[in-house]
Amino acid sequence: MRQAFWVLVLACVFVTVDLQRPQQLKDYWMDLGQRKLREKLNTKPNTNVAKNVIIFIGDGLGVSTVTAARIHKGQLQGKTGEEGSLFFENFPYVGLSKTYNTDRMVSDSAGTATAILCGVKTKFGLIGVDDRTSFGNCTSEEGASVDSILKWANAEGKSTGIITTTRITHATPASGFAHSASRYWEADADLPADARGTCTDIAKQMIEGDGSFIKVILGGGRRQFYHRNESDPEYPNVKGKRTDRNLINQWLQAKADMNMRAEYVWNSTGFNSVEPADVDFLMGLFEPSHMQYEGERNHDMEPSLAEMTEKAIKILKKNAKGFVLLVEGGRIDHGHHASLARHAVTDTIAMEAAVKKAAELTSANDTLTVVTADHSHVFNIGGYAGRGIPILGVNDAESDKNGVPYTVLSYGNGPGYTAPREDPTTVNTSSWNYVYQSAVLTASETHGGEEVPVYAQGPMSHLFDFVYEQSYIAHVMAYAACVGPNKDHCKMAPPTPTTSGGSSLEFSVTKALVVTKMAVAVMVAVIL
Ligand SMILES: *[C@@H]1O[C@H](CO)[C@@H](O)[C@H](O)[C@H]1NC(C)=O
Ligand SMILES: *[C@@H]1O[C@H](CO)[C@@H](O)[C@H](O)[C@H]1NC(C)=O
Ligand SMILES: *[C@@H]1O[C@H](CO)[C@@H](O)[C@H](O)[C@H]1NC(C)=O
Ligand SMILES: *[C@@H]1O[C@H](CO)[C@@H](O)[C@H](O)[C@H]1NC(C)=O
Ligand SMILES: *[C@@H]1O[C@H](CO)[C@@H](O)[C@H](O)[C@H]1NC(C)=O
Ligand SMILES: [Zn+2]
Repeated sequence: MRQAFWVLVLACVFVTVDLQRPQQLKDYWMDLGQRKLREKLNTKPNTNVAKNVIIFIGDGLGVSTVTAARIHKGQLQGKTGEEGSLFFENFPYVGLSKTYNTDRMVSDSAGTATAILCGVKTKFGLIGVDDRTSFGNCTSEEGASVDSILKWANAEGKSTGIITTTRITHATPASGFAHSASRYWEADADLPADARGTCTDIAKQMIEGDGSFIKVILGGGRRQFYHRNESDPEYPNVKGKRTDRNLINQWLQAKADMNMRAEYVWNSTGFNSVEPADVDFLMGLFEPSHMQYEGERNHDMEPSLAEMTEKAIKILKKNAKGFVLLVEGGRIDHGHHASLARHAVTDTIAMEAAVKKAAELTSANDTLTVVTADHSHVFNIGGYAGRGIPILGVNDAESDKNGVPYTVLSYGNGPGYTAPREDPTTVNTSSWNYVYQSAVLTASETHGGEEVPVYAQGPMSHLFDFVYEQSYIAHVMAYAACVGPNKDHCKMAPPTPTTSGGSSLEFSVTKALVVTKMAVAVMVAVIL
């Protein structure tokens, strides 16, 4: 009876979808192909100086997640879905980044975010230190520290910001300002006894270390910042994690001592009342741990990723020298680990909205925007599903060898394994808490080891259009913005941004190369 009901529901869905499917004959594809070709032939590399750099990291945003999010978004708008595109898929340049860690084929967010932000690959679980460090060994941090693009930018007078939907001390954001032999040393209580006093927890590094200059800090994880004897303002039963002191008060005091205007907020009301013109520093920590999935977000208590991005850019933009902003869609990864695919794709669409908002508030003439992932997931779209079939639903083309239907989306491993396999037509697979099936039972679905996409627009974005080590990304951002290892790039020519294709900057680099080559040729001739 129940099964018959679901068959009926699915049948209705298929019929509706088939009626919507537009017929696309040869003219459609020929026109589309020719139009895209002309567009591409007219794309000239932008060799301007990047005043601003915005880097979006979708945690776990592999290609299959981008595809599923694009289809889901289109279907929410009543379309078949495959033909659409997420905003950042229209960026002019795309490349692939190799995500392995120095010690693992399949990586974690700590080692990969360190590669993206600091330009140096390292081990699984390490934050802002190179491969000489052993995981969890405090003394092995000695001499291993590497700096991030945020620190390079700050040294050149730019403003910096970090936004995430996870705890602000979590692996990806932490790689922007911390140095730690373990990603898990988020509060002082997390440090092993032998590391206390020698190594510093990640939260404290945000207040006293390389994070102290960051102007905008927005995310979750406020428990890491107050004492064990203090209650959370929103959840009185939740206590802080620290054994030393309240770091939020320390941060506010430190900024006041510098005659800087700093504000701390912990809910949407406080956040919405912040006037960008009136603050120099803003810290917003909206949950004791991670912020909610977009699909479960309480709008009165937590701003969206797009709202946080907008506020941050309005504050950072006040600096005439520009800014570097890191934005993490951090819970895409958590959706996948729990095999809650609807949350993973919904949080992807929320990050897309943030990218769109950032593009509205900046210009590609002077702002390099990079959208990428730290690593992928073992997440699949399969089964010869028909055009426009609900992406969260059941494959209409075939059942398994035993005649049991299966969903379009599935995981290589994860919590959704049962034997015998459940018939998904007996449940609502598009409900938020539906756990998609996997081939192997693991407590948590795992990351994937293949390359991830890098979408880029703005100055020097054409340098991203091939297959490279993930650590290369930081180097292009540094070159485009003339910071860190590439701060001399701008000194080769007046840093006057041009608005057309070729620039004097590129010309002078070429000229410098020619002169060097000629000098070498003369020297060789003299020696011979
Ligand atoms: C920790 O690292 C230091 C420095 O590399 C090394 O001398 C020491 O043996 C390591 N300790 C452990 C327990 O592995
Ligand atoms: C909690 O402990 C800290 C540090 O020992 C102390 O300064 C503070 O007054 C205490 N707060 C409360 C609410 O007991
Ligand atoms: C939001 O935070 C402010 C302090 O910034 C507090 O006064 C207010 O009560 C909070 N609102 C809610 C709904 O908890
Ligand atoms: C399945 O769950 C989704 C999400 O909760 C809901 O929107 C939809 O109406 C449900 N479908 C059916 C047939 O109950
Ligand atoms: C960006 O450059 C284009 C020409 O390449 C120009 O038409 C446009 O006005 C510029 N936009 C801004 C915001 O400077
Ligand atoms: Zn993960």
